[in-house]
Formats: sequence, C-alpha cells, structure tokens
Amino acid sequence: MPSNNLPHAEERPKGASRSTLEADAVLSSDVAAPAVVALQGVTKRFASGLEALSGVDLAVTRGEFLSLLGPSGCGKSTLLRIVAGLSEPTGGSCRLALGESENAFSTGNIGFVFQDPTLMPWSTVAANVELPFRIAGRVRSAERDRVAASLHAVGLAGFERSYPHQLSGGMRMRVSIARALVTGPALLLLDEPFAALDEITRHALNDDLLRLWDADRPTILFVTHSVFESVYLSTRIAVMAPRPGRIAADLRVDLPQPRNRAVRTTPAYAAMCETMSAALAAAMAPL
Ligand SMILES: Nc1ncnc2c1ncn2[C@@H]1O[C@H](COP(=O)(O)OP(=O)(O)O)[C@@H](O)[C@H]1O
Ligand SMILES: [Mg+2]
Repeated sequence: MPSNNLPHAEERPKGASRSTLEADAVLSSDVAAPAVVALQGVTKRFASGLEALSGVDLAVTRGEFLSLLGPSGCGKSTLLRIVAGLSEPTGGSCRLALGESENAFSTGNIGFVFQDPTLMPWSTVAANVELPFRIAGRVRSAERDRVAASLHAVGLAGFERSYPHQLSGGMRMRVSIARALVTGPALLLLDEPFAALDEITRHALNDDLLRLWDADRPTILFVTHSVFESVYLSTRIAVMAPRPGRIAADLRVDLPQPRNRAVRTTPAYAAMCETMSAALAAAMAPL
C-alpha cells in the first residue's frame, strides 16, 4: 500500500555520508548529487530487546536504483519501513528530500510494493489501483485516466474489471506495482516483490520494472536476497550483514544501461555477480 504524506526534508543533512568500504572511493564522483534518502546512524531496537539495525548510514541519490542485498533476518524490511515512515528508528535519523513533483497526480510521493501483492479481493483491478486516490479523497476523470495509464504501463490494459482471483501471481504483482506507481511517486520502495514468483515470471517482471524505471527515473530502493536479481536491476548495491543489521559493503554496479536479457550472459555480469557473492559471504562471516 502506498504511504502518503510522509515527512519531507529540505536538504541532505550535514555530514550525511555513505557507509563503509568502497562506497566513498567508488561513489565520490556523485557526492554533490542531492540525496533523496539520507540515513544517518540509524538504529532499531525492538521492545523485545532485539537490535535489528545498528549504525546504518546510507545516502541514496535521485534516480538511483539501489538494492539492499542480504540474508533473511538482517533487517532489510525494517530499514525499508523506516524509510517509508512506517516505523521509527530508535536512534539516528532518516531524512527524505523528495522535492515538488510536477506531476499533478502526486498525492503520494512514495510508492511501496510488498512481497505479497496485498490486493483487496473484493475489488476489481481498477479499483485496487485507484486506492491511493480514494485514500486521498480525490477520484475524478483525471485520476481514472491515470489508473488506466498505470495499468497500461504494466501490461494489464483490458484487465480493469477482472478480480484478483482471476489473475496469475505475476499479474497480481503487476497490479500491485501499478498501484504503487499510479501517483507518480518520486521514491519507489519494493520489498522482495518477486521472491514468490517462478523464475520466468520473475525475469519478465524484472524487465518490466527496469522499463518503468527508465521511463520516469524514480529513485528506487529494492530489497532482495538474490545476488543475480540485484546485479541485473541495480545501479548500486548495499550489502547488509546480520546481527545486528548493518551495511557491510556499498558497491556500484558497472554494467551498461539500459539492461536487457543479453546482459545476463555477459562475462561482466558474471564477474559482478561473483563480486557481490564475495561481499555477501564476507558480510555473513562471524565477526
Ligand atoms: N516487530 C518486530 N518485533 C520484534 N522483532 C522484529 C520485529 N520485526 C522484525 N523483527 C526482527 O528483526 C530482525 C530483522 O527483521 P527484518 O527486517 O524483517 O529482516 P529481513 O527483511 O532482512 O528478513 C529479525 O530478527 C526479525 O525477527
Ligand atoms: Mg524482509
């Protein structure tokens, strides 16, 4: 469900920095680019006493496609929920600078896609995608046109009156993506959206997502535990380590844009996957 009216920050906070390892060296060229998301020293300790995140520094610049890559339980979802404003950090700060969108439909500057499509089973596809506008209390013809355009963008034109149970898993996820995109968000957060899909469908949705990103260039934070998926999609990958969750490596993905299927069989892709696998293995090693 998209999360609207989230706090905006005017500026990247002073001293906000990327964390760890190669980040500063590899990414020093775009230090001046505006940070859409700036996390500084973010810690999250749950009431149970479990420290899910510790000292997370992360600055995401406009138009980046950044994947959070890490094993189950390392705090990826917790971090994404903090960025969405759905959860408060217990330490540090999370600031967003989403700016003013020229898009008149931008009632929601953040779109959120969960692993489960979380559709309303009693509503049609169109009504599900319309939900952010309903929440905002504004559904007129312009908004309905926007719903149609969003469904068209994810390849679901003609399915407006279908119900979720009439769709395949991949199509349901497309509806969920259309709902997140319908307001033209500046920031799109996706939490393992394709993890439950078969490989062929996942690859197709990977390409759909890249096409959508290429068209509007929203800033994307994408959570995954798949090395291959993260390398295929991202311009940059933050590798997370568990117990407590933290960023262990922050690496640029130096592969040609736009990505397409041919990339998956190139030596450069294989080499990048190997680099990420090594970074993940190092992150998993006991301290
Ligand atoms: N509401 C909560 N209360 C207590 N512990 C939680 C809560 N949510 C998540 N956790 C714990 O925090 C850790 C990180 O969880 P999560 O962010 O979901 O990891 P990931 O998304 O990487 O699998 C896990 O150990 C999980 O059990
Ligand atoms: Mg998770």
